[in-house]
This record gives sequence, C-alpha cells and structure tokens, in this order.
Amino acid sequence: MSAGQLDSADRPLAQKDRRIVGHLSLFDGHPRMRAIRTIIESIADTDTTLLIRGESGVGKDLVARAVHAASSRRQGPFIKVNCAAIPQELLESELFGHEKGAFTGAHRRKPGQFEYANKGTIYLDEIAELTLALQAKLLHVLQDFRFSRVGGHGLLDVDTRVIAATNRNLEEAMARGEFREDLYYRLNVVEIQVPPLRERREEIPGLAVWFLAKFNAQYGRQKQLLPETMARLMEYTWSGNVRELENVIRRLVVLTDGEQMVEALVDRRRTAHPEPPRPMVVEGLREIARRGAREAERKALAEVLQRVHWNRAEASRILKVSYKTLLNKISECGLTPPSRRTF
Ligand SMILES: Nc1ncnc2c1ncn2[C@@H]1O[C@H](COP(=O)(O)OP(=O)(O)OP(=O)(O)O)[C@@H](O)[C@H]1O
Ligand SMILES: [Mg+2]
Repeated sequence: MSAGQLDSADRPLAQKDRRIVGHLSLFDGHPRMRAIRTIIESIADTDTTLLIRGESGVGKDLVARAVHAASSRRQGPFIKVNCAAIPQELLESELFGHEKGAFTGAHRRKPGQFEYANKGTIYLDEIAELTLALQAKLLHVLQDFRFSRVGGHGLLDVDTRVIAATNRNLEEAMARGEFREDLYYRLNVVEIQVPPLRERREEIPGLAVWFLAKFNAQYGRQKQLLPETMARLMEYTWSGNVRELENVIRRLVVLTDGEQMVEALVDRRRTAHPEPPRPMVVEGLREIARRGAREAERKALAEVLQRVHWNRAEASRILKVSYKTLLNKISECGLTPPSRRTF
C-alpha cells in the first residue's frame, strides 16, 4: 500500500475487521510473517510445544493466541502466565497450585494455572525468568503432563498445550548456566522467531492505518495520516517494535500537535543516541493522560454550553465550578458562542 492511499477516509474501516486477535490474517503483511502463518496452520492441530522468540513488542502474544485460536483447543481456555511478573517464590504455587497448609498463608487448597489450562493452552511468557528449580519442575510436566501441587503428594494429569515465549537469548542464558539445556530442547520442538518491525517495514502502513482507526474510534477523533507522516513512520527504527508504533499512533491521535510529535521522534533517531529510550513511552503516556484530560474537559464544556444555549450561569452550576472558573475555562479552550463564530 502506498502512503498516498492512506488519506482515503474509509480505508481504516476496510482494514478494521481483519485484525481480530487470534485471526491468521494478522500475519499476511510480510513474507516472513506469512511463513509464521504457515507454521501456525501446520502445528495448530497438533499438541506440539512451541517456543516463540523475538524482541519485546513484536507480537509474540498475538502468535500464541493465534495458535490457540487455530487449534482444536480453541473452545478451551487460553491461560497466560507472565513468569517475570510474579515473584519467583509465588510462581510455583501460581503454576501448579498448592494444598492447604503447604506454606504459611496457604489457608486452603488452590488450583494452579496448569489446572485451569486443562483442555486448552497455557502460554508461559518470559520463560527465561524461571528459576532453575522451577525449570526442572516444568521439564517434568512437559515429559508426562503430570504434576503435583505444592505441598501435595498425588499426581494430577493435565491435558494442555504449552507455548513458551522469551525476548532473551536462551543460548547465552544456557552458556551462563541460567537456563537448562534439556528444557531448552524440550520447549524448542517448534520455534517461531517473530522478526523485529524494522525487518518488515512493509507492514508499517497497514499497522499504522489499523491503529489510527482503532484510536480514532476510541477517542472520538477523525485524525488522518498525512503521506509525509507515513514516510517518517516508515523511516524510523522502531526498537520498541509494534508496541511502540501503536503508542506513537495513539499519541498522534490524542495530541493536537501529533504531527510535530512524529517529527520530534524522527529527529531523536538522528541524534548521537539512536535507541529511542523506553522512558520516552512512559513520559508520553503521562502526557497523553494530561492532554486526554484536557481534551475531555473541552468536549464536556462545549457540550454543556451547547445544551444550555450558552447560559454561562447554568453551565457553571451543571459543571460544579464557579462562574469565574467557567469563564476562564471557556477562554482557555478557545470556545466561542455560535453567533460569534467566524467561518
Ligand atoms: N500484527 C499486528 N496487528 C495488530 N496489532 C499488533 C500486531 N502485532 C503486534 N500488535 C500489537 O502490538 C502490541 C505488542 O504485541 P505483543 O504483546 O503480542 O508483543 P510481545 O512480543 O508479546 O511483547 P513482549 O515481549 O513485551 O511481551 C500489542 O498491543 C499487540 O496487540
Ligand atoms: Mg508478550
């Protein structure tokens, strides 16, 4: 798709229905993604363990969900466990459950995520973060699909497909003794390497248009992508991958001077430190919240004023602000009564 086509107003809607999470058409935008689609289709109905690798934000979760959605387990649960987000001392119980009294605070028996994933898929994200002890337990589960709860003696059978993901270099982790070689080979029956966005730039326009439609609908905006902006997006390095693109389009939609933001983004890339630092996104989100709040305030103010035919005293009562504050807000937001508007 050329950048020029993106000005077409109905284009985003045409794309909209195709990008349903788990839908295989998500992987049609680039030959390397189509190769991933082929793997997904060929393994979907097997119970093969799958290892998904790739930098942060490339779409590993989407691949995992697509495998589940394409498999005969699709009616069953899809359970995601982020192994980095749960303290390691709690992770064993989170994964495998515990019996009453297994440890201080275990007041009753609790099933683990493996039990919940029965007849479905369990997706173990950030697998490299598992301790060696938990890696050993997981290896046993993968061998015979049986495990015991923490503090339990009996073995439970589970019928689940295991998908693991990581953005770490497992070979280096193995060389350092931090990741078990036997688990690596057990997980790695099939491996999907999701390429970084900078290696599949052809996907950028389609993704940008999709995110634009999504955020326009979400924030009630009608922003469009100018061909120049699209050209900038195509040039950028995207070290935060699709997630970073998604955040950039969100800001573009929410901020009134969104186009300038894209310019700033590309200028940043040309500085001596080309890696766009992660804090930029965090900072950006705060700014989004502030701007979003301002925008919401402006919208609410305009709506109320219209409803009360610009009776400011009544508007200040409805909005629960003083008359003076209301006047300040009207002028801050640049609102004018209909009769004084110039066209
Ligand atoms: N092909 C795509 N179409 C639409 N959205 C996408 C696509 N690929 C990724 N995304 C979106 O980008 C964001 C990041 O994707 P995802 O969470 O799958 O990445 P990840 O590789 O799992 O990242 P991490 O390593 O940080 O867990 C999500 O919001 C996801 O919906
Ligand atoms: Mg993920």
